[in-house]
Amino acid sequence: MLCCLSGWLCSTLFYFAILPAAILIGTKLIIKKLRGKVDLTNEVDIQGKTVIVTGASDGIGKVTAEEFAIRGARVIMACRNLQKAEKCVKDIRTRTTNGELILMELDLSKLSSVRKFAAEFLQKYGGASNPGGLSILVNNAGLAIAPGVRKVTEDGFEETFGVNHLGHFLLTNLLLPEMEKAGNVSTDPSRIVIVSSVAHVWGQINFDDLMFEKTPLEDWKVFSKFYCNSKLANNLFNLELAKRLRAKKVNVNSYALCPGYVETNIETNILRDNPPNWVWMKVIRPVLSFLMRKDAKEGTETTIYCALSKYLTHHSGEMYRNCEFWDYSKRIKLSEKDAAKLWEVSEKLVKLN
Ligand SMILES: NC(=O)c1ccc[n+]([C@@H]2O[C@H](COP(=O)([O-])OP(=O)(O)OC[C@H]3O[C@@H](n4cnc5c(N)ncnc54)[C@H](OP(=O)(O)O)[C@@H]3O)[C@@H](O)[C@H]2O)c1
Repeated sequence: MLCCLSGWLCSTLFYFAILPAAILIGTKLIIKKLRGKVDLTNEVDIQGKTVIVTGASDGIGKVTAEEFAIRGARVIMACRNLQKAEKCVKDIRTRTTNGELILMELDLSKLSSVRKFAAEFLQKYGGASNPGGLSILVNNAGLAIAPGVRKVTEDGFEETFGVNHLGHFLLTNLLLPEMEKAGNVSTDPSRIVIVSSVAHVWGQINFDDLMFEKTPLEDWKVFSKFYCNSKLANNLFNLELAKRLRAKKVNVNSYALCPGYVETNIETNILRDNPPNWVWMKVIRPVLSFLMRKDAKEGTETTIYCALSKYLTHHSGEMYRNCEFWDYSKRIKLSEKDAAKLWEVSEKLVKLN
């Protein structure tokens, strides 16, 4: 009887605990193995060069700023919450004293703030006082908001589209002359790095309702629509920007990337405003997290790769994931026509000209 019971216990333990755990751990190891790694032996030198990281007060942006500082750059941390960002600087300084870390206020949900930031940057670090110009701009800041919670920026844009795309669109255009200047005095191109997401493949830009004024807001798909559309806009922007830079024959490259599924606060708003059901929270999410989730340092690797790898010097307009070129055209064909149209519409919305 005892023997029978222990046999049953052993097989239950094996099938319901040991085997699933072994499968999960094995799968996680395989996923890790399949991921690319940053090639640290082939980076451009950024000692003393000026770089900007938006959204450097948390998650991927904070680690990106730290990585640039370690390599001796002058890092402008463009953040909306300076108090929070100051704590990040203090924290980074406990690990490295290299480089410069400079805080500047930038709220991408306000065009006035973007213009003010660019003007201050030009005054302090641009023009004749900084002949080196701006070598790297990382458009990293981003947010995701819950379905049914359509928020509007002070300029009247749906918030996700306004922050993730339009704010960065204006910022990039205002800073381009400084990036061209940096490209002129260096053999390495200056680089615009756009932190997008694999989520862009589920986006669908509707030029008749860019701000979601008519689209019904009743389900999870709407979260996808807000976020995925803003990330699709990031990729279309990358495509058109690279095309325009090539046509101008300037030494400036542009890249988009997906950092992967990274342990940061980006989900906080969604989980708070629209808590998913029990199965998602207690089963699917923990399993996905265990298998796929990167910590913020791992999640920063592809940004660093796009910003610094010499392998990418002759590439522009492409997307990267896990430090490798990602041919997303198998999933979605980005329309050059849409990219050109989005540029024109964005120019009008941010009143660029
Ligand atoms: N984490 C992922 O799994 C994942 C996956 C794919 C793509 N991404 C992309 O990675 C980028 C970084 O996200 P994360 O995961 O690091 O998220 P995070 O930890 O929430 O950090 C987002 C950063 O953006 C800033 N930000 C938000 N709204 C802003 C605004 N209006 N003006 C200026 N800054 C603003 C935040 O500032 P505060 O500190 O003031 O809040 C924060 O510094 C985003 O573009 C995101 O779409 C992330």
